[in-house]
Amino acid sequence: MNSKTLPVLIILVFNFGCAQDNFYFNVQPKDASVISGQSTILECNVSNTKQIIFYWTLNGDTVANTTRRYQDGSNLRITRVNREKDLGEFKCIAMNSSTGFSLFSSGASLNVMCELENVEMENNWLYFLVFVQF
Ligand SMILES: *[C@@H]1O[C@H](CO)[C@@H](O)[C@H](O)[C@H]1NC(C)=O
Ligand SMILES: *[C@@H]1O[C@H](CO)[C@@H](O)[C@H](O)[C@H]1NC(C)=O
Ligand SMILES: *[C@@H]1O[C@H](CO)[C@@H](O)[C@H](O)[C@H]1NC(C)=O
Repeated sequence: MNSKTLPVLIILVFNFGCAQDNFYFNVQPKDASVISGQSTILECNVSNTKQIIFYWTLNGDTVANTTRRYQDGSNLRITRVNREKDLGEFKCIAMNSSTGFSLFSSGASLNVMCELENVEMENNWLYFLVFVQF
């Protein structure tokens, strides 16, 4: 090996290592407050989607698709948020299907609120009382 081929080799090796998996999360799931029973979408995307497969985990377990909660493209759609079933940390995983290389997003949690029904009930009573006074 002479002194001219060494730099070429180094550049080749460097490029090969970099070209394989060159992606990062350009959208990461965020914490959100949702009223129980309402819908929400946890969003996820990567900068380069070539050969990328997405899946989601909740507390480390793969999220299965159900009618209530399913993967929609790279996002996770929850049609009726449930305080017990959606408790914990959601993560999006982007995996290059040809290399197996995976990136894990930051975790996101849902703050599921139950107040809506109570607030509506109280307001209805209030309106009723005001109405009766007139
Ligand atoms: C996934 O791996 C293949 C094969 O190495 C590569 O061509 C492709 O660019 C990679 N995808 C991403 C998003 O990095
Ligand atoms: C994900 O990001 C890539 C790169 O910016 C973009 O081309 C693609 O349209 C995005 N996908 C969605 C569903 O927004
Ligand atoms: C859920 O469905 C999506 C889109 O149909 C698919 O990409 C994903 O792999 C499925 N998830 C599981 C855990 O089967």
